[in-house]
Amino acid sequence: MTVVDGSSSSSAGNFKSKTTAYVVVCWIFAAMGGLMFGYDIGISGGVSAMDDFLVKFFPNVYARKLTVHEDNYCKYDDQMLQLFTSSLYLAALVASFGASKACTILGRRPTIRLASVFFIVAALISALAPNKILLILGRILFGIGVGFGNESVPLFLSEVAPPHHRGAVNILFQLFVTIGILIANLVNFAVANVHPFGWRIALGVAGVPGLFLCIGSFVIMETPSSLIERGYETEGRQALQKVRGMDDVERELEYIKHACEQAKKVKQPFKKLMQRESVPPLTIAIWIQIFQQFTGINAIMFYAPVLFQTMGFRNDGALLSAVITGIVNVLSTFVSIVAVDKLGRRKLLLQACVQMLICLVGSGVILQLHLKSVGTLDSKLATIVVVLVCLFVMSFAWSWGPMGWLIPSEVFPLETRTAGFAFAVSTNMLLTFIIAQAFLSMLCHMRAGIFFFFAAWVVVMGVFVFFLLPETKGIAIDEMADRVWKVHPVWKRFMPKEGKGAEMT
Ligand code: BGC
Repeated sequence: MTVVDGSSSSSAGNFKSKTTAYVVVCWIFAAMGGLMFGYDIGISGGVSAMDDFLVKFFPNVYARKLTVHEDNYCKYDDQMLQLFTSSLYLAALVASFGASKACTILGRRPTIRLASVFFIVAALISALAPNKILLILGRILFGIGVGFGNESVPLFLSEVAPPHHRGAVNILFQLFVTIGILIANLVNFAVANVHPFGWRIALGVAGVPGLFLCIGSFVIMETPSSLIERGYETEGRQALQKVRGMDDVERELEYIKHACEQAKKVKQPFKKLMQRESVPPLTIAIWIQIFQQFTGINAIMFYAPVLFQTMGFRNDGALLSAVITGIVNVLSTFVSIVAVDKLGRRKLLLQACVQMLICLVGSGVILQLHLKSVGTLDSKLATIVVVLVCLFVMSFAWSWGPMGWLIPSEVFPLETRTAGFAFAVSTNMLLTFIIAQAFLSMLCHMRAGIFFFFAAWVVVMGVFVFFLLPETKGIAIDEMADRVWKVHPVWKRFMPKEGKGAEMT
């Protein structure tokens, strides 16, 4: 058991805490929510490529697949196929707003439990689906589960983490996302030749992370902020003592209580979000998610096997390359767990922009010069592209991947936190939907230019981070307004002059 002091210099920033075994168990159980999201990202591409699945639900797509035109960049362009992958994210988009209400009214823990229940039911329905209607119902329920899980889990983690380890604890969510993607890739690989129901196994296994999360939701405790916000002050104090592993939590408790008093004054958080002082966190939360998706990561996560086949890899080589990128994704996330609270968010994001830019431009140039509509890349060039794709995934995994969830979960004051975070989740879902739905068509029309398209976005996001993203490492989640927004050269203009800081110090 270690006692760790907050390293921040403000009086409110150095709340003390001990990391107890129970607290670590809570972090890990809650982070299981990431497994569900990751499994879904990884599984649908593989399932929609399985012939048995296509014959049963999309016979036209299957017929077309047998007679596809030969153009390298266009052979997988099919709206129906893409809709199977993307529909889940539309459901998640809508669900995240309901989840925000559930988080505020019921608390974080029941919302996490609801997410797991949706997921288990979705897995059962999908695995047993006798027809397209039930298959789609399964997708929608998966989506609702993802919406509820992605809203509640990162918030839970940020609220129970000690300020000086908040980045690392929150990134456990992303770590489980990457593990979920990898497990899905492996499951796809394993069941691809189980005829005729390999796809049923693949969809049904999604219930397993749901089950873990459901069990976890009985083990974890409610967050102190959520308890106090809902009027359970004694329980809130006890919960804080439990998460901090010590009795003396008075100073932090005062801060949370103050944040809750402010929160109670706000009857309509969504309306409050439209006010001037919410512009800084809302802008950051929404754009960080837009940028996360415009790195192009999901072109790789959803369609890596297709992309590698486009370059001329045979089927198993392409699946194997997808597993390799999955492993790189998991391992590189550890880098950010270690670095995020030391180096800070900004440095990781900026470094990644440079690395991603080099990889995207490099791959684009190779494909532009050497991959024509017919024929394949020669094996040396194909290997270079795979290496570039791995380096790209690596940099995403220690930066935009985890920060996309961490930063929006820590920048809002309590009164708008769940509502503001719902915007971040739904933005992520909307952009994920768009990329899932459009990527194969974009590849067909833009060809190698798609790499330059994402490269241009990487430049824009680097400029955004450099000028507009404040550093939030080590700052207590309920003192962001005073220590971040009110001192930032651009964002301070949006903040009221008198505030909490003056009263509290
Ligand atoms: C993103 C997903 C992405 C995953 C890759 C997550 O943070 O939200 O869209 O597929 O990272 O690891």
